[in-house]
Amino acid sequence: MDKFVVRGGNPLLGTIKVSGAKNSALPCMAAAILTEDEVILENIPQVHDIETERKLLTSMGAEVELGYGRAQHRTSIQCAILSDPVAKYEIVKTMRASSLVLGPLIARTGIARVAMPGGCAIGGRPIDLHIKGLEAMGATITQDHGYLEARTDRLKGAHIVFDKITVTGTEDLLMAATLAEGETLFENCAREPEVTDLAALLIAMGAKIEGAGTGTIRVQGVAKLHGARHKINPDRIEAGTFLLAGAITGGDLNIDCCEPEHLGSLIAKLEQCGVRIDVGKDNIRVRSGGDLKASDISTEEYPGFPTDMQAQFMALATQAEGTTTVTENIFENRFMHVQELIRMGANITVSGRTATIRGKTPLQSAAVMCSDLRASASLVLAALVADGESILDRVYHMDRGYERLEEKLRGVGAQIRRMGDVFSKR
Ligand code: EPZ
Repeated sequence: MDKFVVRGGNPLLGTIKVSGAKNSALPCMAAAILTEDEVILENIPQVHDIETERKLLTSMGAEVELGYGRAQHRTSIQCAILSDPVAKYEIVKTMRASSLVLGPLIARTGIARVAMPGGCAIGGRPIDLHIKGLEAMGATITQDHGYLEARTDRLKGAHIVFDKITVTGTEDLLMAATLAEGETLFENCAREPEVTDLAALLIAMGAKIEGAGTGTIRVQGVAKLHGARHKINPDRIEAGTFLLAGAITGGDLNIDCCEPEHLGSLIAKLEQCGVRIDVGKDNIRVRSGGDLKASDISTEEYPGFPTDMQAQFMALATQAEGTTTVTENIFENRFMHVQELIRMGANITVSGRTATIRGKTPLQSAAVMCSDLRASASLVLAALVADGESILDRVYHMDRGYERLEEKLRGVGAQIRRMGDVFSKR
């Protein structure tokens, strides 16, 4: 398994380019199931989860081209015939977001067999709200040896109020509703930019959708959807991670090709911490504004402070003067990075869903273990300011959602390199 070797102490200086959003690309790739025509997606990130989605769609009978040539980062998907509408456990167990094919499959073919996604490091990750919504639209769903089997003659529009705000639940059911008979009204929807990005693709494919990006979405079902070409949003979490990298190292970093308006809550929080932020049209400049000040966060659904930035912010909080409380309201076990940060010298205590960080504490380099995508990013940020050389193990977690992270960071002065095991394959 590959490792990162990071020597701390360098302020990051220069320009770093943001890739397309993994969490937009995944539902948009699944949306191609809804039509027999070709769907072309541009600005696709070169990350492992995209390769997993390619395998999943191909296993069901889709033709998928995935090109990462210099000008490309694009995929062409054609689901002319879905010969095997089954999302197999071997693939689903490596990527929970595979459940995003459930809604499109049942809407397009009237039948779907999807392995139930297990939990993951950050929580149980149930999909009961996906199931409840599809049943409300007329699907019959049974559980069979670890698989969900869904059947329907044709989905029918319904009035669905989400018990909890769910991002992929909103996306899954939104896709299903585009081909349902009649109108579907969704309330208490997720408002994340990834939902809006998916809706833009679906509308380009001929779907009739109003209200994406708000809590209430109205869909008029249509008989068929056609192909489209769509450019994926920039990855707001990758951009946010780089903002924190510039702040924690006391550098002067320009985050290019991003969407600043998707980062409002993080930018406001960093300014409260005393970080200097200059916002451009599609870039953000981050500079040190002197000593970092402590400022509490509590994760909320968009546009609140994103749970996907919680671990990274905690690394920054170890360098802030004062006491920071971090409350994780979305997932029940998203503090896997805490013990590793403590091993690097951080002063953190946890009580229930709240972590208390006392700073500023100098961090010491150490051998640490990555546990999930964003916890891994937190450890990279900590290693960038720790004294000496840290070894981060199991960086495959990062490869799932960050494109060429070590190359991008090295390009702005970080001392970071990938160390492959003799037997590991890239
Ligand atoms: C999406 O996960 C993202 N993944 C996550 O990003 C992100 O952390 C999360 O949204 C929250 O923003 C993708 O988009 C592929 P949820 P998702 O459904 O949709 C509960 C990353 O690091 N819930 O919004 O799975 C659930 O347990 C990943 O890129 C139910 O109870 O998250 C959680 O407590 C990690 N029943 C809360 O809702 C359901 O049917 C929010 O989960 C669905 C969700």
